[in-house]
Amino acid sequence: MRILVTGASGSFGRQVAELLLRSVPASELVLVTRTPAALSSLAARGAQVRAADFDRPEALPRAFHAAEKLLLISTLAVGARRQRQHRSAIEAALAAGVRHIVYTSSAGIHPRNPSLAVADHVFTEDVLRRSGAAFTILRDSQYAEVIATILAPMALESGKWIMSAGEGRIAFVSKHDCIASAAAVLTTPGHEGAVYEITGPELHSFREAAALAAEIGGRPIEYVPVSHEEKLALFDSAGVPREYVEGETNSDGTGVWGSEEMVSYERAIRQGFFSICSRHVEMLTGGPARTLREVFLANLHALRPAAPNR
Ligand SMILES: NC(=O)c1ccc[n+]([C@@H]2O[C@H](COP(=O)([O-])OP(=O)(O)OC[C@H]3O[C@@H](n4cnc5c(N)ncnc54)[C@H](OP(=O)(O)O)[C@@H]3O)[C@@H](O)[C@H]2O)c1
Repeated sequence: MRILVTGASGSFGRQVAELLLRSVPASELVLVTRTPAALSSLAARGAQVRAADFDRPEALPRAFHAAEKLLLISTLAVGARRQRQHRSAIEAALAAGVRHIVYTSSAGIHPRNPSLAVADHVFTEDVLRRSGAAFTILRDSQYAEVIATILAPMALESGKWIMSAGEGRIAFVSKHDCIASAAAVLTTPGHEGAVYEITGPELHSFREAAALAAEIGGRPIEYVPVSHEEKLALFDSAGVPREYVEGETNSDGTGVWGSEEMVSYERAIRQGFFSICSRHVEMLTGGPARTLREVFLANLHALRPAAPNR
């Protein structure tokens, strides 16, 4: 069984590769990335590293050859470009004879979900279903680590958590659980045709997330609900670009989203599209999904700068 992971130098890609190496011989793992040099340590351990870019579809079938299963990690350029990238990757996988495609989609898949990011996943899931390949869809909810290491620290710093998600609820999921779920699907049989809702174990509003961050961070946070227009204006005044800019990164090295995409995500949360809580993480990994509190405690260094990380 040869497993191929695309986008392998990103945060998700690297961590899933590390996890796969615990149960799969390195010779069975192919890592595809735009920056092979970034994966030299995994190459040194025996994984095959191949160069490919979804924006250059002509080279993809060659990069994907001799793989049985492919993990398609969604890319970052939200909108028509990302849809083209994902379609190119799926077509190339078929041309290369890949038998089973596993795709990191999003929670909240619905044709009327206003989230710009979700629209790309609706498109890609449709391409995948029509492709004729065996597929598994992993609908990841919002990463709890984004809340714990980026949004909560900013709120603790300013004393305010300003959101246009209102009282909408979402089951924040640990990225570790998303990665463990992907690794389980890639290494165990019986997942063809399955759609998994990869969520945390509890639904939370951002008001509750703010209260939890204040409790654990030891500083007060006022939750301030605003309109979507006000939130977009706030991003504008902070100099956040409206659309994705290639190469811009967050403090954790992951790609930065454009403000229009982020506000559309908050709109979708407010309208209830992400109000989904499943036990699929536990079904796949055998252990309970991490709670938001657990993810906050695992990232204490971000919430209480003087505290040691657990
Ligand atoms: N559920 C959530 O809350 C949430 C939050 C953020 C992101 N996401 C999604 O989950 C994905 C993985 O997250 P992450 O934290 O690992 O993000 P990340 O560290 O920023 O990685 C971005 C990934 O996109 C790949 N990529 C970008 N442009 C590409 C292209 N032209 N061709 C092929 N691959 C390309 C990169 O691959 P290489 O650089 O190795 O080529 C990399 O794996 C993201 O890309 C995004 O779609 C979900």
